[in-house]
Amino acid sequence: MESTRPFNPGAVSAKFRELFDTQPILVRSPGRINLIGEHTDYNEGYVMPAAIDRHIVTAIDFSMDSHSTLYSVKHNEFFSFHTSHPEKVRSPLWANYILGVVRRIVDKGHAVRAFNCVIDGNVPTGAGLSSSAALECSFAFALNHLHKFNISKLDLVLISQWAEHNYAGVKCGIMDQFSSVMGLEGKAFVLDCRSLEHRYFPLDLSQSAIVLCDTMVKHSLASSEYNTRRAECEEGVRIIQGYHPEVRSLRDATLLMLESHSTEFPAKVYDRCTYVIQENQRVLDAAKDLEKSDLKSFGKRMYETHRGLSKLYGVSCDELDFLVDESKKINGVLGARMMGGGFGGCTVNLVSKSTVENFIDTIYEAYLERFKVVMNTYVVSIKDGTSLISDER
Ligand code: GLA
Repeated sequence: MESTRPFNPGAVSAKFRELFDTQPILVRSPGRINLIGEHTDYNEGYVMPAAIDRHIVTAIDFSMDSHSTLYSVKHNEFFSFHTSHPEKVRSPLWANYILGVVRRIVDKGHAVRAFNCVIDGNVPTGAGLSSSAALECSFAFALNHLHKFNISKLDLVLISQWAEHNYAGVKCGIMDQFSSVMGLEGKAFVLDCRSLEHRYFPLDLSQSAIVLCDTMVKHSLASSEYNTRRAECEEGVRIIQGYHPEVRSLRDATLLMLESHSTEFPAKVYDRCTYVIQENQRVLDAAKDLEKSDLKSFGKRMYETHRGLSKLYGVSCDELDFLVDESKKINGVLGARMMGGGFGGCTVNLVSKSTVENFIDTIYEAYLERFKVVMNTYVVSIKDGTSLISDER
């Protein structure tokens, strides 16, 4: 039931040579999971992500034409544009992630020359695994390497996030792009989304596995509701600031601050703020669990996170709630929760290794029976962030 398309970066290079007749640079950038700390990044809080073994690959080389040409293997579609005018387009939407990166790099004063580019990959889209961040980051890294701009890794993260905000229209936090670029093999990390300090933790998967269950519900509501959640959190901060001007974001707020002025909050805003404050603490507690290799306690916190996301933050859906509830009935599951922005996509499940097969079979059947939908499952491992595969020009 492992359902990611087998993927060979060499084929991307071959496709590039076939289309453009030169030898490209190849760069890969991974999707990510997030173990705990959801919807906390844009509140300047904590997250605990890791980069996974699913990638977007960019093949790139300079073009002799006056314009740049992109080709998406997945969409079997070309798109050409003038490198000095990387404007946002109505279609194809996939090109916007690239155009946004070009725009930002041009605006930063870099002289971007015309290029050809082929994109392919096996990060499932719409599954909450940040395929868009993987695309932005692999392209940003590749363009930087091609031109020898010397842009730092952190700036590539910020450039990619800018593209997501301004060309894809999602006011995302920093987690996805940061994880795609900064991930390390075998390690999860706690990222402080205010200072961007981060600390890696070995994630020992010798006894347990990370299994993703894809609801197959494409999170179409996600971008509008996502931006609404962000606005609700900001509203909460404004109310708190009336009494505690030192509070810059929900990161600085406490439950006591909320409770003391509870009557002033619209009910929804109160719930959103409660969840975020609790979730930030959960990430810090979960990091201690990892230090003690206490995956049982870690798993319980995952369930608590799900409850918060579903009941207080309002970003779950029936399918996600069903999968998390079912997981509790299956032997060997330590924890489960919805992952990413919400309204569809995957649950992330921490499962004892010896019971993985039974877990997948059981939850697959239950989902099929309940929703008449064949779900995808992915057993993922933790890999390095964005890297150069080859530069043989
Ligand atoms: C999306 C965003 C991230 C983060 C998550 C929720 O993946 O891109 O920045 O906010 O949702 O935790």
